[in-house]
Amino acid sequence: MSRAAAAPPPMPPLGKPIAVPVQSSVWDRFTNWAAENKALVYTIAGVAVVVSSAGVVYYLNADAKPKPAAQPKLSKKEKRKRKDAERQAESSPKSPAPTGEQAKAPTVEPADELPEINETTVATFTDEQRKEYALKLKNAGNKAYGSKEYPQAIDLYTKAILCKPDSIFYSNRAACYNALSAWEKVVEDTTAAINLDPTYIKALNRRANAYEHLSQFSESLLDYTASCIIDEFRTESSTNAVERLLKKVAEQKAEEIIKSKDPKKLPSPTFVSNYIQSFRSKPRPKGLEDDVDLSESTGKGQLQIGLQAMEKKTHEGYEEAANAFEKALEYGDLDEHEALVYNLRGTFRNLRGSHEQALQDMDKSIELDPAYTQSYVKRASMHLEMGDRDSAAADLEQALKQNDGDPDVYYHRAQLHFIHGEFQDAAKDYQKSIDLDSSFIFSHIQLGVTQYKMGSVASSMATFRRCVKNFEKVPDVYNYYGELLLDQNQYDEAIQKFDKAMEMEKQTKPMAMNVLPLINKALTIFQQKADFSEAEKLCEKALIIDPECDIAVATMAQLFLQQGKITEALKYFERAAELARTPGEIVNALSYAEATRTQIQVQEKYPQLAAKLQGMGAGAAGMGAGAFGAGR
Ligand SMILES: *[C@@H]1O[C@H](CO)[C@@H](O)[C@H](O)[C@H]1NC(C)=O
Repeated sequence: MSRAAAAPPPMPPLGKPIAVPVQSSVWDRFTNWAAENKALVYTIAGVAVVVSSAGVVYYLNADAKPKPAAQPKLSKKEKRKRKDAERQAESSPKSPAPTGEQAKAPTVEPADELPEINETTVATFTDEQRKEYALKLKNAGNKAYGSKEYPQAIDLYTKAILCKPDSIFYSNRAACYNALSAWEKVVEDTTAAINLDPTYIKALNRRANAYEHLSQFSESLLDYTASCIIDEFRTESSTNAVERLLKKVAEQKAEEIIKSKDPKKLPSPTFVSNYIQSFRSKPRPKGLEDDVDLSESTGKGQLQIGLQAMEKKTHEGYEEAANAFEKALEYGDLDEHEALVYNLRGTFRNLRGSHEQALQDMDKSIELDPAYTQSYVKRASMHLEMGDRDSAAADLEQALKQNDGDPDVYYHRAQLHFIHGEFQDAAKDYQKSIDLDSSFIFSHIQLGVTQYKMGSVASSMATFRRCVKNFEKVPDVYNYYGELLLDQNQYDEAIQKFDKAMEMEKQTKPMAMNVLPLINKALTIFQQKADFSEAEKLCEKALIIDPECDIAVATMAQLFLQQGKITEALKYFERAAELARTPGEIVNALSYAEATRTQIQVQEKYPQLAAKLQGMGAGAAGMGAGAFGAGR
């Protein structure tokens, strides 16, 4: 692994391509960090570390389970023994006891030897008698359970409990209820067992399973997490369950968020302007120039207002534009501009996350003016965003039939190839787009990134040097140049580029700065010097400029997690979920949030584990920083 844990992958210029890569790259970036970071965590600190920040990460990387190597080495024989024990524990309640008691078939029929057991009689027994009777009753219960006579087993365990409350008896009775699918009863009995023995893994797993059946996913997740922590993530079925439940909890919560998200806000101005500038800008149509006086209460007047507002590139400007395009279509009488207005309204509806409505607007726009190729291109990008490659390709094909000299179509077809890893085809289309119109900077940037992806580092660097020469005022050039330098661990050069990018942002659009270079600089410093506080400061600065920037928020969460500050990390993950735009992104952000939250809850709910957790957490946090300094 040549790249440091926090390095952003060589990715499509964030925000340039189309809405898809923009947003998903936040999580690409994050997942990448998570995967690499976890590897580091495991090799250095062994399994114990999973409890702290890394635990959160671990959940979300199913492909990176703790390898046996990370555990204390077991001999083959020991492994087999452990396996056998696990299997037996699963098959019946006979040996769930932490006492290690072996499952001998009971020879005693309690009815033959025991006196009547009820509240009244039990009160008359000596301690010795209670103990003796309880054991006999339990053994008989196990036998009944083994022959699937659950009501009888329940009766026997109940009597055993009457003699002497014991976590094993409760847990075994819960197993009977489990077999009868009486989930509430399972919860009741396992809870009693856990109250008596808070680290009783089998009871925790049993209760977690019952909660899952009752659709109480958060409770289930909490129990599975506790169980994983207690046995240090050794049991695969439990770690799988944690991942499964995380997804369920996140999906359930996402549904609530999506329902309550109305009216939908536009994403951050950084996102919106990146999205909009991925399509070549067209001059203002005739008759709508600034000096033309139009009434606000006409469709054309609103169109003019909207186009003017878009040029401000601020959050308020974009909101104003979105509303104006809605109104323009209500007023109507747009004449030849109608297709354009549907295109624009659809663009903003898509940005608000109303994908269906947005697609309908693009359909209408194309129907009104089939020669207006940008509507095909935008519809293609929406299809791509929803993962529908075929429809996207078909739209681009249709656009080329209308106009095979439109550089935008080649650029977006290149994007399609790029995000599917087809770099040869992508490079060809970027080049074609450049040949048709070399003034569009993003074709050059993307070509450079594609060359880098293909392993042609020298041509890629040459492309970027040319870009710097020909587009010296464009901040994005420096930003993506910097990302590629960072990927080559050329930290100082990368930082120079990010600084230059910010300088150009300030010079060219002081009121609507893109904060990506600041975040990239934060990651570089974090990676180079493990300097958390400097990195945090830079992200905070980015959030002051653009408070809704999801990438800044996700990066902050990542920085806190890395330091083991899970409460702070949780705050930022929740914020990231609020800012997310598509259902997939919301679920993604919430999974991280829930993983973090559950760990906090486990620490609160199981104070007996807290000391153990604290020790592990501190170790992990220290280790994280150290590892950055040393290994990379
Ligand atoms: C308990 O059992 C005794 C002896 O069989 C019986 O006399 C008594 O009525 C029972 N009490 C209850 C509360 O069932």
